[in-house]
Formats: sequence, C-alpha cells, structure tokens
Amino acid sequence: KRVILVGPPGCGKGTQSPLIKDEFCLCHLATGDMLRAAVAAKTPLGIKAKEAMDKGELVSDDLVVGIIDEAMKKTSCKKGFILDGFPRTVVQAQKLDEMLAKQGTKIDKVLNFAIDDAILEERITGRWIHPSSGRSYHIKFAPPKTPGTDDVTGEPLIQRKDDTAAVLKSRLEAFHVQTKPVIDYYTKKGIVANLHAEKPPKEVTAEVQKALS
Ligand code: AP5
Ligand code: ZN
Repeated sequence: KRVILVGPPGCGKGTQSPLIKDEFCLCHLATGDMLRAAVAAKTPLGIKAKEAMDKGELVSDDLVVGIIDEAMKKTSCKKGFILDGFPRTVVQAQKLDEMLAKQGTKIDKVLNFAIDDAILEERITGRWIHPSSGRSYHIKFAPPKTPGTDDVTGEPLIQRKDDTAAVLKSRLEAFHVQTKPVIDYYTKKGIVANLHAEKPPKEVTAEVQKALS
C-alpha cells in the first residue's frame, strides 16, 4: 500500500505512523524527521531548510521533493510506504504523482487527520520526542514510563524548537493556506478517508485500520 498522512501540526501523524508501519509492514517516510536530521547534521540541505522551519513556514518544494525522491529510491520496502508530512502543497502532490507514474504505481489512500485547531496547542506544547527514532510522547496524553526518557532506549527526550505556541500559529496558517488544497486534490481522485483525529490515540488507530483494510 502507498499511503499519505495529512493533517495539521499535532494531529497525530507521527503517533500513528509506527503502528501502521508495523501492522502493514510499510516504510515510514517523514519529511519533517528527515529535515530535522539534516538540520542537526548541518548538511547543505539542513542549512537551507533551518530558517523556514524555525519560523514555522514550509521549506521550498524543490528541496522537499528532492529528499523524498532520494528516500523513495533508497527504500527496500516492497509492500509500500507511508508518507508523513508530504505532500504539503499541490505542487508537491503533482510531482509525487509524476514520480510514481514513472514507476507505474500510484497512491492508494490518503488519511486526512481532521481535527479542530483549538486542540492543537496543548498537544504541541506538551510533546516530547526521541530524536533518533522520531517516537513522540506527551506529558499528559502519552507520558513515558520514566519522565524525560525514551521507553525503548532509555535515551533523553527533547522538545522540538518549533513546538511553541507562537510558531504553531505560523505552522497552522501554512496548513490552512498551502496544505488544505492538497486534501481537495486527492478528494477529487476519490481516495481520501476522513478520520476523527481528536479522539484518543487507540480510537484513531482503529479508524486507521478500518480505512486501510
Ligand atoms: P513536521 O515534522 O511534518 O511537523 P507537523 O506537520 O507540524 O506535524 P507534527 O510532527 O507537529 O505533528 P504530528 O501530526 O506528527 O503529531 P504527533 O503524532 O507527534 O514538519 C516540521 C516542519 O518541517 C514544517 O513546519 C516545515 O517547515 C518542514 N516540512 C516538513 N515537511 C515539509 C514539506 N513536505 N514541505 C515543506 N516543508 C516541510 O502528536 C503531537 C502530540 O500529541 C504528541 O505529544 C502525541 O503524544 C500527542 N497525541 C497524538 N495523538 C493524540 C491523541 N489522539 N490524543 C491525545 N494526544 C495525542
Ligand atoms: Zn510529526
């Protein structure tokens, strides 16, 4: 299966991805995680991306399409992939369609994590992540067994630089202006499943499983 996860910051894309990945044996490609790794490693790509990310704006289509193209070529996942955080503009969606058409494939399903903006600030400001795996926790909704520590590796958790109430405002604006049209783009193709992303994680997982089965 080739699946896209789309929704505003904090809607639960990163939380649901590992579960989908394991259950359906798909490869998880998250442009946000790839960009943060490039920023941390101070690669030329990371240096170019950092300014926009810190402000909560989108990185240019060319940069992001380039990293996805590379990542898709490298994956060995035969059963397909989950795209988390990509495409985020209609241009990115069109480029993705072109890339897949060349391989004779296409997107099977787009999971739209529908949620009210008002819920997202608490989710974003309470999030703690394990940077190398991308696992995320929440101080209230999904606390780690030991505060500040990853359940699997025992390594320290960090907060993302863009997870502040102020930067969230720009991220939400980018979502409404640039990413909402991507949902319309796939709705016209008839492949969107709308999820109730405000529900507790387990209930969202059940909706995801239903949409993909
Ligand atoms: P990215 O990393 O993609 O960030 P985002 O889209 O803002 O999404 P988040 O990671 O914040 O949210 P999530 O849905 O994964 O939430 P999570 O599951 O962790 O992008 C970052 C930046 O990179 C962008 O701003 C941009 O600059 C750049 N970028 C990336 N891709 C790009 C692209 N394609 N084009 C251009 N630029 C790009 O959940 C959040 C919290 O809530 C967690 O603490 C979690 O535990 C908790 N939680 C999750 N689900 C629930 C639930 N059901 N109930 C209660 N709590 C929950
Ligand atoms: Zn995420």
